[in-house]
Amino acid sequence: MKKTILCIGAGYVGGPTMAVIADRCPDYKVIVVDKNEARIAAWKSENLPIYEPGLDDVVKRARGRNLFFSTDVAAGIYEADIIFVSVNTPTKMFGAGAGKAADLQYWEKTARDIIENSDRGKIVVEKSTLPVRTAEAMQRILDSNPKNLHFEVLSNPEFMAEGTAVDDLQNPDRVLIGAMETPSGQKALQDLVDIYSHWVPREKIKTANVWSSELTKLVSNAMLAQRISSVNSISALCEKTDANILEVSDAMGMDKRIGSRFLRASVGFGGSCFKKDILNLVYLCEHYGLPEVASYWEQVVLMNDYQEARFVEKIIRNMFNTVAGKRIALFGFAFKADTGDTRESPAIYVSQLLLEERAHLAIFDPKALDNARVDLKDEQGHIEYIDDPYEAAKGAHAIAVLTEWKEFAAYDYQKLFDLMEKPAFIFDGRNILDHQKLHGIGFNVFPIGQKALTHL
Ligand SMILES: NC(=O)c1ccc[n+]([C@@H]2O[C@H](COP(=O)([O-])OP(=O)(O)OC[C@H]3O[C@@H](n4cnc5c(N)ncnc54)[C@H](O)[C@@H]3O)[C@@H](O)[C@H]2O)c1
Repeated sequence: MKKTILCIGAGYVGGPTMAVIADRCPDYKVIVVDKNEARIAAWKSENLPIYEPGLDDVVKRARGRNLFFSTDVAAGIYEADIIFVSVNTPTKMFGAGAGKAADLQYWEKTARDIIENSDRGKIVVEKSTLPVRTAEAMQRILDSNPKNLHFEVLSNPEFMAEGTAVDDLQNPDRVLIGAMETPSGQKALQDLVDIYSHWVPREKIKTANVWSSELTKLVSNAMLAQRISSVNSISALCEKTDANILEVSDAMGMDKRIGSRFLRASVGFGGSCFKKDILNLVYLCEHYGLPEVASYWEQVVLMNDYQEARFVEKIIRNMFNTVAGKRIALFGFAFKADTGDTRESPAIYVSQLLLEERAHLAIFDPKALDNARVDLKDEQGHIEYIDDPYEAAKGAHAIAVLTEWKEFAAYDYQKLFDLMEKPAFIFDGRNILDHQKLHGIGFNVFPIGQKALTHL
């Protein structure tokens, strides 16, 4: 083996990223470590801890050959030449910056573990999403090692999206690597370029200074989320004016300067990253004395909160101003299709608001029921988790579609209608169903940003 790569953190990023690197670079040994024993056990088993289309095959090809999973963080550090740090960097919930700043405690812990378990210098790669200038702090901690070892810190943010992680990793739009503009920084950068060059065309491997690289990741997420909040804000106006958000988005997206992607109106964005990364950006702007810039980006998050609350208000208003004691089937709990991840899913907030109104929830999702149970474990009220959509809809007054799973559009809606209480309602929070057809069956249909189709 040419070199040993270690990744600290076997989560949604560390696992798939390292599996693809190991698959594409059989001449490197790749070890993925995590302090979470259950997670590592799952990575070693037939039931991987996360669901991603295509991931099973990639892991099976490389696992045991040059891809290894372990809980022994110290041994992994000792053996490694290059260490990717892919631990979680959630929003800080205490002390200064609570509610906005990034909580870097897990991050800093890895820096100290690296010092403690190294007997030679190594390349340390920031894979986690971090505030701009974190590499400076990382470098300072690593430089404080008593053995006088030299560590080189690189930034290599991950742009893959959950649900399409494997494809994104195998065919990335670009790989970004930030390095210090010193001879040792540039040498380390070349070592990382050598790895990605195994499968990524050289022109797609962008190099930059560390600060640009760190900031690019935060801003990319902010820009993507901003498009969703922008189109969602217009969906509210469409509902007031009988304009149709699908027509507006389609025609707008045909303008090459705007582009068609990320213009789908919905109940709101979720996922572990968008909200935390924008709040992190907001905090940074406040820290650097830029309150106008901070409030500009904060509005993207506020608009998302508004869209989620607006969806629930629509349900209550149209169901005769009360949902108390009414069964509502939630179709989808994951924050997006093709993943079981529910972190920051709009479904959580929607469920909480509906439970406050004393609705009875019947939650169905093809992959996310286990996570849904954890998310709602502290909620009071009537909640059922059901692994069959028809069972969930039995006796329900309404179906609320919260995730854009393709299979939802293929269900037998006549059968669902027959199983439900009347009048039967559908609130399509993802605009994925055939609304005219549903109306023809007898449903009262409430899409996002489009005229409601009712019989009332
Ligand atoms: N999820 C995404 O789609 C995505 C995409 C791009 C970037 N990111 C960023 O990547 C980072 C990781 O995200 P994730 O979704 O994989 O998080 P995650 O919570 O799924 O995984 C992080 C893992 O790190 C482990 N960990 C934490 N501290 C550790 C330590 N000291 N030693 C060993 N293991 C430790 C945790 O046990 C956990 O399993 C975050 O900064 C996130 O913002 C996430």
